[in-house]
Amino acid sequence: MPFATKFPVAKFPVQSVRATYPALDDGHAYLDGAAGTQVPQSVIDAIVSAYRTGIGNAGGAFEASHRADEIVAACRAAVADLVGGLPDGVILGPNMTTLTYRLAGALALGWGPGDEVVVSRLDHDANVRPWIQLATRAGATIRWAEVDPATGELPVEQYTNLIGERTRLVAVTAASNVLGTRPDVAAITALAHAAGALTYVDGVHATAHGPVDIAELGADFYATSAYKWSGPHIGAVIADPALLETIRPDKLASSPDTVPDRFERGTSPFADLAGVTAAVNHLATMVPGTGTRRERLLTSLSAAEAYEQELFGVLIAGLEAMPHVTLYGKPARRSATAYFTVAGRTPREVAEALAARRVNVWNGHNYAWELTGALGIRDSGGAVRVGLVHYNDHSDVDRLLKAVTRLEE
Ligand SMILES: Cc1ncc(COP(=O)(O)O)c(C=O)c1O
Repeated sequence: MPFATKFPVAKFPVQSVRATYPALDDGHAYLDGAAGTQVPQSVIDAIVSAYRTGIGNAGGAFEASHRADEIVAACRAAVADLVGGLPDGVILGPNMTTLTYRLAGALALGWGPGDEVVVSRLDHDANVRPWIQLATRAGATIRWAEVDPATGELPVEQYTNLIGERTRLVAVTAASNVLGTRPDVAAITALAHAAGALTYVDGVHATAHGPVDIAELGADFYATSAYKWSGPHIGAVIADPALLETIRPDKLASSPDTVPDRFERGTSPFADLAGVTAAVNHLATMVPGTGTRRERLLTSLSAAEAYEQELFGVLIAGLEAMPHVTLYGKPARRSATAYFTVAGRTPREVAEALAARRVNVWNGHNYAWELTGALGIRDSGGAVRVGLVHYNDHSDVDRLLKAVTRLEE
């Protein structure tokens, strides 16, 4: 049973949730959420308040410094609640790409010739290239999981042949950032663990779209980015603190050697971290609920997921009915993300025509480098991406569909 279906699904109050996001008042349909969401007032307030109250660097003897320490601790606790981890296992950093290079660099120190790393063509390049570059430098071998271009699925069966006793790490996404495909991560990580390999799950796209439980996913490392789920531009990697204790990244002699601090480089953006905590609290309160923050997050995000999926059904049915539109992928489980081209126009021209109607969508490969290559559209400008998030409503989808209808030659 998918994790989300274990929770009672409350009705999602989209209009009251929209009202908490000031930017949504500007008359644009923000269908670019897969590239980054807008932020609610509570996140803006938390960032402003951190600066206004007085903030020092961490670890000092005075109050403003204590506040920085408290902000970091609160942020780790919030991110842990969001994904079902432990605060001491939350590594914070500028973004997922930077953190993934950092983890790949540290893990690859223990790899050598004969070792193998499995990556997938479904993944965003940030969960592909760091592994290829660092593993290759260590003399290890890369093995590829392929996508079915017709469906956009990442078949699990192939992993039986890909994973073996020399596999050191399996990197896989929890959701494709262009097709929305949600592969069977739990099955893939189970095969990896049976072979003694570690798993690195890219949750950057998935986290925004429903409840997450890293234990259920079997993610030894789970990467996410707060700017995809109503927070500021901050990334996080969550792992078991006991696992982190076994890894020694490059670090300064003078910086803390404790976990997770030794994975964080230089001074943290404390005010933004206060914004991350506020974003998690926002997600937990979108739907009225009771219990711990973790429990409220599960209730709220289950409702958001059900709402997004219903809206996505309207979007896909509308696009499918247009003869001049080609939709990519038809995976069985997907986040509310559509990827399509329009006959006779480049993806950029489509995005520009929609922008003229104040409908914000992305065009291009969107860093799904291998996937757009497998789909045969990377060199022709990729496709147009509509990324729904919980604050989109029927009027956004309606505007998009009307604008795309007008593009029929
Ligand atoms: C699925 C996925 N993985 C990784 C990334 C990279 O994240 P970041 O911008 O935090 O480095 C993105 C960004 O769009 C993404 O969508």
